[in-house]
Amino acid sequence: MDKIIIEGGTPLTGEVTLSGSKNAALPILSACVLTGGWHTLHNIPALRDIWTIKKILSNLGVVFEEDGQTLRVNSDNLKSHVAPYQLVRTMRASILVLGPLLSRLGKAKISLPGGCAIGARPIDFHLKGLSAMGVDISLEHGYVVARADKLRGAAIFFDIPSVTGTENLMMAAVKAEGKTTLNNAAKEPEVVDLANMLNHMGAQIEGAGTDTITITGVKELRPVTYSIIPDRIEAGTFLVAAAITKGNVRIKGCRVDDLEAIVEKLVDSGVKIEKQAQDLIAQGNDSIKSVDIKTMPFPGFPTDMQAQFMALMSIADGWSMIRETIFENRFMHVSELRRMGADIEINAGQALVRGKSNLSGAQVMATDLRASACLVLAGLAAKGRTEISRVYHLDRGYHDLDGKLSLLGPKIWREQY
Ligand code: EPU
Repeated sequence: MDKIIIEGGTPLTGEVTLSGSKNAALPILSACVLTGGWHTLHNIPALRDIWTIKKILSNLGVVFEEDGQTLRVNSDNLKSHVAPYQLVRTMRASILVLGPLLSRLGKAKISLPGGCAIGARPIDFHLKGLSAMGVDISLEHGYVVARADKLRGAAIFFDIPSVTGTENLMMAAVKAEGKTTLNNAAKEPEVVDLANMLNHMGAQIEGAGTDTITITGVKELRPVTYSIIPDRIEAGTFLVAAAITKGNVRIKGCRVDDLEAIVEKLVDSGVKIEKQAQDLIAQGNDSIKSVDIKTMPFPGFPTDMQAQFMALMSIADGWSMIRETIFENRFMHVSELRRMGADIEINAGQALVRGKSNLSGAQVMATDLRASACLVLAGLAAKGRTEISRVYHLDRGYHDLDGKLSLLGPKIWREQY
């Protein structure tokens, strides 16, 4: 296994280019199951979750041709409708093949994902929505077994906006008979990217990016050439990296509108952020002001940036209240941050961060993807040496974060243990 070692205290300077969005690439790759022919997808990030979804798709009979960040995908010869436990247990987003398989084959058997480090994360909204569309669903031996002779449009209401739930139902609905309406749908940019890709395939989806999405079923879809949006969470992570090291970093190729909530909180905390065409330039400030955050569905502050922001608040002047409203257990990074000297108290879904000026390097352990990024950021700011073990969590969702950071100046490297 790899660990990351950081000698902290160097301000980051220079420029960095973003990779494609993980959470857009995962549903878009799954959507290639909807129709045969060769799809060409550009800007696919090279990271572990993409490798996992490719494995799941290969298992179904999908074939790939890879050329750097471009992936050609063909699902002409599907030979299975099963996503097995061994693969699904490593990545919950595997559930994204459920909608496309039902649309294409009328059947799917997907292992139930189970709980994960950040919370219970049920899939009841996905299943309830599919039932309303005429899918017969049973749970057998840890698997969701779904069958439908014909999918038909339905009016579906989400109790809470669900990102992969919205994506799964959108994919199930594109060739369903009649109209499907998704109410209280997720508005995340990754949902919009998927809808755009599906519309290029010939789907009729309106309203993606609002809370009501309407999908009018079509008879035929065609393969597409499509480019995935840049990763807004990677962008946010580099913005915080500049802030926490009091550095100056140009982040190239951002979609600035997707980053508003993150940029606003950073500006409130004293970071200077300038927009130049597609680039954001972040300049850290000697003194970081404490600000409160509350995670919310898009366009609110993303839960996927909560851990990274907490690292920054742990060296701010004053107290910050961080409320996590999306996942009940997404504070696993707190105990590790405490080992680096942070003063944080958790109480009923919120963390009170008493900012202080110094963190000190320590041996810490990554527990989930964004917690890993949080520890890397804390390590960049800390005095002395930080060693982060279990960084395979980081590699699930960031393409070469340590490599990209090392080009900005700090001493950061990997060792095997
Ligand atoms: N929920 C239910 N029932 C469901 C589905 C969701 O109760 O059937 C609840 C969840 O437990 C949670 C809330 O609804 O409280 C929202 O969860 P959502 O379904 O939106 O999460 P997700 O689709 O499983 C995606 C991202 C996550 C990101 C969340 C929230 C992908 C592949 N994953 O997960 O990304 O945190 O949306 O924005 O898109 C990450 O990249 O680190 C990551 C965890």
